Amino acid sequence: MSSAGNVVARALPPPADGVHVWWRELHADDRIDPGFVALLSQAERARAERFGTPLLRARYVAGRATLRLLLGRCLGIDAADVPITRGRRGRPYVERDGAPDFNVSHTRDAAIIALSTRGPVGVDLERGDRSVDAARLARKFATARERAVMAALGDDDVRRRFLRLWTCKEAMSKATGDGLAAPMGKLDVDVDASALRLVDGPAPYVPADWSLVALDVPATHMATAALWRPSTGEPREATSPALPAAR
Ligand SMILES: CC(C)(COP(=O)(O)OP(=O)(O)OC[C@H]1O[C@@H](n2cnc3c(N)ncnc32)[C@H](O)[C@@H]1OP(=O)(O)O)[C@@H](O)C(=O)NCCC(=O)NCCS
Repeated sequence: MSSAGNVVARALPPPADGVHVWWRELHADDRIDPGFVALLSQAERARAERFGTPLLRARYVAGRATLRLLLGRCLGIDAADVPITRGRRGRPYVERDGAPDFNVSHTRDAAIIALSTRGPVGVDLERGDRSVDAARLARKFATARERAVMAALGDDDVRRRFLRLWTCKEAMSKATGDGLAAPMGKLDVDVDASALRLVDGPAPYVPADWSLVALDVPATHMATAALWRPSTGEPREATSPALPAAR
């Protein structure tokens, strides 16, 4: 898709029926396209102004405008008219009957945007070269089983393994809206199987209700989509304002 002469997003292979994901590069260019600014709400423009550098501001404007263009196209309305609001713990959603659920994740140079008409979706994007103290973080955020697998790996493999696990856990936490309050250290994820898989976790992170998909992003990055399909009843009441009905 394009706007104001710029190619703004590339569709990735869909991770599931009814779920679409786009890759948006955020260039090291601090020029702001006025056509993009015109698509933003007052609150979004005010937020853009609060970014400390012109580059961060330009990246936010480009990412947000892209999200609006995608949602507007999906809803058949102008991008500027998409009613994006925030729910529990700040989880953004579109306040309109029948709207898709969506979720966004950024690194400094790229963003991914997921839209789902089949229930809540969460995404997490990380740079593959991100430097993390994986051994220390694993003590807090990995299960005993995950740590045991990591114990047999060399340093860089541990780091990459931890990043993949993290994208899975954060994507799930973003589907529910829990964010960093999710019980990350109790979410047991298998990244060795042919497909990513939640093995164990406390409700609502029960394996039967979740699909995890490694997204086909450039090799410089790592990204996972988490699709939440609660099998019994409605999603937790506290989360529901952010959730379109599963269709
Ligand atoms: C959601 C969260 C894990 C994202 O962290 P991150 O790795 O820094 O950032 P990412 O790039 O992956 O995602 C950021 C995007 O996630 C979305 N987001 C924000 N809060 C979210 C939530 N609770 N659930 C799902 N998605 C959320 C937003 O679209 C945000 O981008 P935007 O601000 O440009 O719209 C983190 O911000 C978080 O835990 N938020 C909850 C905070 C909270 O509990 N607040 C309670 C205050 S009462």
